Amino acid sequence: DGFPAPRLFSQGVSYTYDDVIFLPGYIGFPADAVDLTTRLSRRIPLAIPCVASPMDTVSEAAMAAAMASLGGVAAVHCNTEPHIQASIIRAAKSRRLPFVSSVPFFSPASTPSLSDFAGHDYALVTERGDSLSKLVGIAVAAEISSRVVPVSEYMRPAPRSVSSSFDFEQAASILVDEGLDYASLVSDDGEVIDVITAKDVERIRSYPKLGKPSLGADGKFVVAASIGTREDDKRRLEQLVNAGANAIVVDSSQGNSIYQLDMIKYAKKMYPEVDLIGGNVVTITQAQNLVNAGVDGLRVGMGSGSICTTQEVCAVGRGQATAVFKVASYARDHSVPVIADGGISNSGHIVKALSLGASTVMMGSFLAGSHEAPGTYEHKDGRLVKKYRGMGSLEAMIKGSDARYLGDTLKLKVAQGVVGAVADKGSVLKFIPYTMQAVKQGFQDLGASSLQSAHDLLWSDTLKLEVRTGAAQVEGGIHGLVSYEKKAF
Ligand code: XMP
Repeated sequence: DGFPAPRLFSQGVSYTYDDVIFLPGYIGFPADAVDLTTRLSRRIPLAIPCVASPMDTVSEAAMAAAMASLGGVAAVHCNTEPHIQASIIRAAKSRRLPFVSSVPFFSPASTPSLSDFAGHDYALVTERGDSLSKLVGIAVAAEISSRVVPVSEYMRPAPRSVSSSFDFEQAASILVDEGLDYASLVSDDGEVIDVITAKDVERIRSYPKLGKPSLGADGKFVVAASIGTREDDKRRLEQLVNAGANAIVVDSSQGNSIYQLDMIKYAKKMYPEVDLIGGNVVTITQAQNLVNAGVDGLRVGMGSGSICTTQEVCAVGRGQATAVFKVASYARDHSVPVIADGGISNSGHIVKALSLGASTVMMGSFLAGSHEAPGTYEHKDGRLVKKYRGMGSLEAMIKGSDARYLGDTLKLKVAQGVVGAVADKGSVLKFIPYTMQAVKQGFQDLGASSLQSAHDLLWSDTLKLEVRTGAAQVEGGIHGLVSYEKKAF
């Protein structure tokens, strides 16, 4: 009944997630008992199999703190100056709270206008206007004077401080117990880091309870970061490692290149303590080269991303279901975790990626448009949207990401991605827990009580699949209704 994966994927056909469907197994446990713990790379355990993509409309400090506090991880993008990328990593790792507000800092003598608050309700006032000098007050945007006067004339006294080593519940109970509207977040070294408000507490308490966060050996959030494969990326690498990056993603659309292999060997030699993720690959041969060079994780996908045009522009790539299965069938013999990158638009795609051998999924569009994604919301056709763009889009390349697409040595720039927008999705702190619950239900239907047991079903040929015809795909989606409202939670 049905085909085992090795048979289905050896027919010379490239399948996407939507092309295939699993046959159900036997349910012998409740969905809540499903264990989704996994590994990002050889030495980095995660409580949930979710990775935020290193893209400049997805992964900066707020996403990194939120993903780590959920038990996943974000890879901070490299489409910016190395010192800025390093400061994003430091910001995410400087706290145990699931958010980063990035409020502005002013000195008492400064005369900011409302726009200097950059949409924040509060700003911190320190002696020199930086995070390292003494906190002297807090300025409230709603109380800004219409006259040009120094902040010192209208600021409120320095708020109570909360240690940056406190987790959310510890910090929240101080605000609630003491009836505070806000408190400052201060490190043990006295660095002023952020503001936590009663509004933040109320918002985060309305989400599902946070599980086990991803913490590194340093006791701080696990944060990954991407680099390119140019010579000057070696200096970037050094700054990222110094900032505490736990894993480095070598970011190329086609990872089987002399540039990437050289970078992997260099990074492994210089920073053996940091896990190195290579890619992207879609074939066993590509994967072999990266594994032989010493990678600790493999990023799989070429042209499957929602904003990708690589397959159309370059005629190279592979259906994502086939790519994940093929690379995983090789990587498992070397104990190298596979990251299924791109093409995730629902929880079923996550179940498919993991059950076809991946250890995690990397997501761009699924996380873009969230509260934690960089950028601001705009109104478009009556909807609230945030920008989401391919790192190979002209717009992103002009900002600097063209090394990923090996275009840096070419005079003519050809885009391999597009710029778009995605609808407001709310906070990842809310929709990722719901998505993981849906993934657990999928695993339960398959009879897999953990990621390991899903992989055991796959590699023992117990997992059975079939290809869906076009009509079967239509049948599997919503159909036959005049109108409907699609709401998952
Ligand atoms: P999703 O489907 O999650 O895909 O939005 C995210 C992944 O897409 C890749 N990526 C690109 N691929 N051109 C491409 O061909 C691009 O401009 C581009 N930008 C990102 C990347 O692997 C990412 O994780």
